[in-house]
This record gives sequence, structure tokens and C-alpha cells, in this order.
Amino acid sequence: AGIRHYKWEVKYEYKSQDCYKKLAITINGRTPGPTIEAQVNDTVVVELKNSLLTENVAIHWHGIRQKGTPWFDGTAGVTQCPIVPGDTFVYKFVVDRPGTYLYHAHYGLQREAGLNGMIRVLIPPGESEPYTYDHDRSILLTDWYHQSTYEQATGLSSLPFVWVGEPQSLLIHGKGKFDCSTPGLKFGLCNATNSECSPYVITVVPGKTYRLRIGSLTSLAALSFEIEGHTMTVVEADGHNVKPFVVKNLFIYSGETYSVLIKADQAPTRNYWAVSKVVGRNSTTPKGLAIFNYYPNHPRRSPPTVPPVGPAWNDVAPRLVQGEAMKARQGYILPPPQTSDRVIVMLNTQNTINGYTRWSVNNISYNLPDTPYLIALTDRLNHVFDQTPPPDGYDSQNYDIFSKANNTNATASSSIYRLQFNSTVDIILQNANTMNANNSETHPWHLHGHDFWVMGYGQGKFDINSDPKKYNLVDPIMKNTVSVQPYGWTALRFVADNPGVWAFHCHIEAHFHLGMGVVFEEGVEKLGRIGRIQGHTMTVVEADGHNVEPF
Ligand code: C2O
Ligand code: CU
Repeated sequence: AGIRHYKWEVKYEYKSQDCYKKLAITINGRTPGPTIEAQVNDTVVVELKNSLLTENVAIHWHGIRQKGTPWFDGTAGVTQCPIVPGDTFVYKFVVDRPGTYLYHAHYGLQREAGLNGMIRVLIPPGESEPYTYDHDRSILLTDWYHQSTYEQATGLSSLPFVWVGEPQSLLIHGKGKFDCSTPGLKFGLCNATNSECSPYVITVVPGKTYRLRIGSLTSLAALSFEIEGHTMTVVEADGHNVKPFVVKNLFIYSGETYSVLIKADQAPTRNYWAVSKVVGRNSTTPKGLAIFNYYPNHPRRSPPTVPPVGPAWNDVAPRLVQGEAMKARQGYILPPPQTSDRVIVMLNTQNTINGYTRWSVNNISYNLPDTPYLIALTDRLNHVFDQTPPPDGYDSQNYDIFSKANNTNATASSSIYRLQFNSTVDIILQNANTMNANNSETHPWHLHGHDFWVMGYGQGKFDINSDPKKYNLVDPIMKNTVSVQPYGWTALRFVADNPGVWAFHCHIEAHFHLGMGVVFEEGVEKLGRIGRIQGHTMTVVEADGHNVEPF
């Protein structure tokens, strides 16, 4: 296995990704950042220099399990202290499985300022995938706000609450098109002819088959993605081989990755639209458009048709169908443990704390401590976070998930779930009504440090007696991100076999920021103190030029 060495400088730069000029966070001048390309079992080394001038940073390698390297998970407040301006931090980890993964900032609301990218891990030479294609491409889907993250974060923490609203644009691999004739825009800020916002182009040769790796790192939007006139065969999800199924449009939530196979089998005399569209919210955000370019047509030539309409935003049924269709592929099935040692039911609700709007799990809204848990636990600093364990459930007898809660007041806490090392844990994500009548939202939940089996989905309130009987114990897909649909539940199972401290949270940036997450600890006693070189001790003999009583 080799070493892939990257040297990155992170800074703010003016960009016009959707024709509207604003400060974006770039890596070596780009957003999305460079795609990390590696082979299974390679070591990826990223030397990250923070040139943000007045802002900390941390980067999370989304979908990489960090077995044996929990301190490189990149989650500020959980696994590391953020990197201060001017500093360089070296991330070093092994990519131990093939597939499509992501990376993004994990500090404040920084992800939505454009600090994101993809990781592509290839199978070893000589081995083959269970499907064939001629070319391998990747695209990252995001949404884009014109406000700065500071304006957004301030609004979210204010009384009265100021919601971030719907994004101004959808970007396909960093490119979108905002309507510069929108009234009220400051002169010179929006330039429709700026080449930075010309549509992203995917060029294909007629007759060839393409593997398209699609990742979503939206801040808010759940998306439907489609290529006009073409079907897609889903073959990979979050790094796992899927029992292939064909779709016209792919639903993709923030934090998910998919590989689809697309055959360039349509009339080769023209180009086609590639479209992303918001679903799950009655959004004002226009569609994201890229060009699916049939060689040798000009890549900038607009398709002669109007972009496909896409599915209705409020039609949940096809999204459930896609979830149910996602199973492990024959020959790649790793069956889950047939029973679990612990079941944690997590009620997802919108709440208030002293009038401030928050999100919470079992009525606890999550606050990150100043000292990262991983350091606190390996250094036994018990005062750093709340030691009372959070509850394993909620009062499901008396809680009505279909209506606005009477008492919406939540508790803020930094407490964590301590899991027995190597135990099997079931998590039931239970959705409910928000603080507005007749409203329940979709939440994509992401687990750090593990993949989990998706055991089942359901609508309404989870029934602990009957619903587990419907679990897929045979060939469930493994993922690291899964959605819970409005008023529904999602059950997942994982083995707590990765010593460390791991975040599990809603991947909607503002929801996590408002407390929608938890943290798991398992096997930290197996880790040395972070300040030490693994496997060695050090004897301190000098400090600032003075001899020290050795320790
Ligand atoms: Cu991709 Cu904790 O997130
Ligand atoms: Cu959410």
C-alpha cells in the first residue's frame, strides 16, 4: 500500500459559483476541493494549513472509519481541538475499503461556505468490481447561500429566531446559476456572464457506460438527481455494493454517496440536462443544472428541451421505495448480528430553551464542550462534560408524535452515550411533529467511525414489540448516513468495535448546530493518551530552559 500526500491551504476567496460574488472557503484555490484518489489500504496524509486569518478549521473524512486513528476524524470538539489560524495540522489515516466518500469542514457552519470535496478509493489492481463500466466520474451536489455563515449562525442563536431559509442556488460540482436580474441586488455583485458560473459539463462518448459517483453535501436540501432521457442503475451506496436497481431519478440526502451506471444510449446529436431538485421541502430554490454532453457536440450547447420537472417535492412514497430497494449485493452480504445488546430510541424534536429555538434528541439538545471528548476521556478530565448519561428512550406511551408538543422546553447537555466495547447497538430514529402544526421534516443522520446496517423503515410511531419482527436480518445495506422521513422511523444496527469517541448527528448543518446530535464513546480505555507517541512514553527533563524533576 502506498502513501498519498496532499498539501492543502485553506482560505477565504471571492468566488462567483452561481454568478453571485461572495466569500467562499477554498482548498488550494478551489471549491469543491481536490478529489482525494487512493487505493485500498493506502495511507492518506493531508497537511492542512489554516489561512482563514480569523477562523479555526477542522476537516472530517466522512465515511472513513478511522480504525485506530480516532484523533484524525476531524470533528472539532469531539476528536480534536480546531486548527487555529496560521497553524498546520497533519491528518494521517488509512482508507481501508474501496468506494466513494466525502470530506468537509466540521467546525461551526463552515461546511456551507464551500469547504468540501470527495474521496475515491479504488480496488487493488488485479481485482474487479461486480459491474463494468468504461469511465469513472464524480460529482458533488451542494446547495448555496449568499449570506455568510456568520450572519446565519447569528440568526440561529438570536431572539427572535432567524431561520437560514431556503438556499439561493443548487450547485453541481461547484457551479450554479442565480438569476442576476433578481430585483434588489447590489450593482456589480451578480454577473451572469462570469465564466465561474458556466454550467458544469459531464462529457460522454456515445455508446459508452459511465460510472457516476454522486455525493451530496448540502447544508439543508434533500435532492432528486436525474439525467434527462437516461436511466441510472444504482450499484454503490456509502462505499457498499448494492443489489442493482434502476431509477429515473435518484434521491440523495446530505452525507450520502452513490455510484450509478449510465449508458450513453440516447440520440447523440444533442446534449441533455443533468438536474438536481429540492425535495422534502416546499422550496423556492431553482433547480441545479449541468450539461450531459454527448461528444462531439459543443459542451456549452444548451439542450434543446426544457429540463425535466422531477418528482413532486411532497411525494414521500417514491423516496420510501428507494430506501426499501437498497439491499446488499449478492456475494457482498455481511449479515448483521441477529440480536442486539442495547436499543436506544431517539425522538427527534424541535424545541426551545429559554425561548431560543433548538433541535433535540429525547428532549436533550446537544452542546459541544470546549475540550474535545477524546482528549477529556483519555486524560480523565471528568469536569469537561456533563457526566449524567443521556436517556435511552422517551416517554413513547404519552408522547404524540403527530401533533405540536405542549411543552417544548428542552435541556441543553454535553453528556454522551458510553457503549460497551464490541456490543451490538440498535438505534431507532423516531421522527415527530415540529413546533409548527402539521409539519415534520426529513433528517439525514450520519454516524462517524462506523457503518451501520439499515434494519428497516416505517411510518408513524415505532412499536418495540412488533416492528423489530420486520427487520431485514438477511441482506440489509450498510451505510454511514440514512434518512428518517416525516412522521416515520428508521432502525439501524452497528457494532461498537472502534475505540474512540464518535459523533452521530443530523447532517443538516443548521440542525446539528442547534443541537441535533449525540456522541458515542466505546473502548477509549484501549487508547493511549493523545499527547503521547503511541506505544512509547516520554520523560520530561526540561521546560523553558529549566531542569525539571523528571516525570
Ligand atoms: Cu459529514 Cu459529522 O459529518
Ligand atoms: Cu435535521
